[in-house]
Amino acid sequence: MGRLAVLISGRGSNLQALIDAIADGRLDAEIATVISDRPGALGLDRARQAGIPTQVLPWLGEKRRVEYFQNMQRVLQEADVELVVLAGFLRILPMELVRAFPQRIINIHPSLLPAFPGLNAQRQALEYGVRITGCTVHFVDEGLDSGPIIIQKPVPVYDYDTEASLAERILAKEHEALPQAVALVLSKQWQIRGRRVVCKC
Ligand code: GRF
Repeated sequence: MGRLAVLISGRGSNLQALIDAIADGRLDAEIATVISDRPGALGLDRARQAGIPTQVLPWLGEKRRVEYFQNMQRVLQEADVELVVLAGFLRILPMELVRAFPQRIINIHPSLLPAFPGLNAQRQALEYGVRITGCTVHFVDEGLDSGPIIIQKPVPVYDYDTEASLAERILAKEHEALPQAVALVLSKQWQIRGRRVVCKC
């Protein structure tokens, strides 16, 4: 059974999707720890309700960025996890941390990457005028939302969409994609060829 660390900053609905998938037997994994950079993150309550240990590592400010992530690296190493899942964790990990967990950190992003990386991906999609957007689960590399893609799910954009209505439709697909991607990664039935995550079978 794969041990996971889930990093959050807020609502934690993707964390909840993982908790539910494990409870339903769709995902053979254990969430060893949930780590938040914000003490008030709603996701911490979801973790506590599910009996999952939580840790708050409050952000120390840009000036202490190096110290912050060194500490996080130590916490993750002590947790002895197979996979680190960024589920709405809003900080960019430094190169050193990414290199310490090669192909062992994944992120969920609310667009079809490489379109609309970074913040406000749903607003970017609306403003650009695309008819189809979606979500992506990808390995974290040293760039911004740029690592090899594990799973993507498309979502239509309607004329009457607002940022909120589009975000809600994408979120429903995120909740499907994230447990599927975690299961796939834990299965070890994949390899990375160039930028492509392909089946080993
Ligand atoms: C999601 O849209 C995710 O794709 C993005 O941040 C949001 C987190 O939502 N990275 P939640 O905290 O999982 O509800």
